[in-house]
Formats: sequence, C-alpha cells, structure tokens
Amino acid sequence: MADLTTSWLGLTLRSPIVVAASPLSRDPEAIAAAVASGAGAVVMHSLFEEQLAHEQMAAHRFLDARTDLDAEARSFLPASEVFAIDAGPYLAELDRLRRRVDVPILASLNGTTPGGWTSYAKRLESAGADALELNLYEVATSPDETGAAVEERQLDVVRSVVGCVRLPVTVKLSPFYASVPSFVRRLEQAGARGVAVFNRFYQPDIALDELDVDRRLVLSTPAELPLRLHALALLSPTVSLSLSCAGGVHSGLDAAKAILCGAHAVQLASALLLHGPGHVGVVLAELTRWLDEKGYRSSAEARGVLDLSSAPDPHAWERLNYARMLDGWR
Ligand SMILES: Cc1cc2nc3c(=O)[nH]c(=O)nc-3n(C[C@H](O)[C@H](O)[C@H](O)COP(=O)(O)O)c2cc1C
Repeated sequence: MADLTTSWLGLTLRSPIVVAASPLSRDPEAIAAAVASGAGAVVMHSLFEEQLAHEQMAAHRFLDARTDLDAEARSFLPASEVFAIDAGPYLAELDRLRRRVDVPILASLNGTTPGGWTSYAKRLESAGADALELNLYEVATSPDETGAAVEERQLDVVRSVVGCVRLPVTVKLSPFYASVPSFVRRLEQAGARGVAVFNRFYQPDIALDELDVDRRLVLSTPAELPLRLHALALLSPTVSLSLSCAGGVHSGLDAAKAILCGAHAVQLASALLLHGPGHVGVVLAELTRWLDEKGYRSSAEARGVLDLSSAPDPHAWERLNYARMLDGWR
C-alpha cells in the first residue's frame, strides 16, 4: 500500500490531507474525528487583523485611562496581561486542540497591513502552534494604490510575521496577481516556508427582490480545482517552498491531481463541512487506491510528476494550450 507520509513546512505528516481553516477547528470532537480518519494536520480558523487591531486599541484606551489616574499604572499593568484577555479564547482553543490530537496544528493569522497585530504570531508560537498560516485575503479597492504597492505592503506583513517567530510560516494567497510565480518567489525571499493556493474569493450575489447584497457563503465544488492545479504545476519547478492546494478538493482523485501537479499537502474545508470530518478517510482510501493502481510506492513519488518542469518554455506551452482549449469546445 502506498506510503502517504509527507514532508510539509519541515513537519512530517502521516498523510497529505490537511483540515483547512474553517469553523471545524472550533469543535475538538470534529477535529479528533478528522484526525482519527487520517488527517495529517489541522489549520485553525483565522484571527483577523481587524479583531486584533480593535483589541489593541481597546487595550490602549484602558491603559491610557489608568495612566491618567495613576502615574505608576503602566508598571503594574503590563501590556501582555491586557493582551492575554483579548487573545485568550483563541489560545485556549489552540491548547484544547493540542491536547486532543497528536498531529501538527497551524494557527492562522489573517491580515494585509503591517502593524502591531502581527506580533500576535509570537503568542501563537508560545501557545504551542506548530506552524502559522498567514492569510493575505484582500480585494484591491483603491485606484491610488498600484499593484506593486499592494504587493510590497503584503511582503512587509510577511516579513514582520516571519521576523517574530521561529515557526515555519506559510502564506495563503489570492489568485489575483499579475505574476503569481514572481510574487511567490518574493514571498520565499521574505522568509515564507510555504504557500497555499488559493484563497477563495467570496463573491456576494445580488438579492434582486430585496435590492440588497446576498452574503450567503457557497461551499466550493471541484470546478474550482483546475485554477489551483495550474498554479501548482507552474510553481512546483520554480520555488523550493512547501506547496499546499486549497480549494475544490472533494475526493481522493482530486487530491491525486493536486499532488501530481506538485502539492505537498492538500487542504479540505467544504467537503468536510458537507460530508463530515470522517470524509477524510474516504478521500485517503481513494487516493491510496489510485496510487496503488498506478504503481506509485508513495505520494511523494507521485508529487510533481505533472508539473511544468519538463516544459522547455512554459509561456509558449500556456499559449498553445489556450489556443487548443478554444478549439476543443465541441
Ligand atoms: C465556513 C468557512 C470558513 C472559513 N474560514 C476561514 C478562515 O477563518 N481562515 C482562512 O484562511 N480560510 C477560511 N476558509 C477558507 C478555507 O480554509 C479554504 O481555503 C476554502 O474553503 C477552500 O477550500 P475548500 O474548497 O475545501 O472549501 C473558510 C471556509 C469556509 C467554507
């Protein structure tokens, strides 16, 4: 039977299937079920910059109010104690998960502007996270900020998080960069150890009757996978980062495709929310069966077999495939 042991972010996982950031991590029993079914690691839901910045402001207001009353207030009320109140529930959740399961747990920070909030990475490290996923989710809204400026700001965030911790940091990206390979290379230079492709871009619909925005979250389908496969195949030969596929993986065959394109780890959220955490077992059984049928002794052996390392000119290859696809609509 094919060996599924995977090396990801310097961690050894017993399988490449990772529970993606989602509300599942709030439920230790659900996570225990996913791990019992073979999940190799768990990413917690995110702590958002907006939460942390808001809490820091509240902390400052509290400290400042005390300072007005008592000149020595700062010395008996260290900032760390105030922050402990704010980050407490998340850190407690991390601690509960660590006690409940024996696979690596990644904490998740979500934000896009450099600032004090990034120092929470240190707290997550001290609380026992095995790695950090930094989610750079954002939609560019200002015509005054160029794409290059957006990227530079995001790289600053990565540098400041990486600078706070010794833990491996992986970055969850959106697909909307003029050059994903160039940005990913700069992430590597900024100290990231991995990238997850891609964030799902939550696109609210319009509720015509109410003349309002319909914010219902629609879970993914495997139709979202090819965008990720394409990026993985491009990135796999050009960076030495750990790659994870996030988005549209619902079955073991989907996971096999991601691994063939270069993924070290494959993250699932929607499929586990739809079918329950035990679905990890179904995915792993199908992945193992496929690897066995094809004669691969391990998932590591299959990794990257279909990446673009053998394409002498990936740019020409992309153009050619585009033209072929347009012709193949029948
Ligand atoms: C209900 C829900 C909550 C999520 N919360 C987070 C989050 O807190 N942080 C994050 O980085 N991603 C979050 N995600 C995104 C998932 O981690 C994952 O990247 C995305 O859903 C694509 O994977 P999938 O196709 O398997 O769902 C969430 C997804 C869902 C469905």
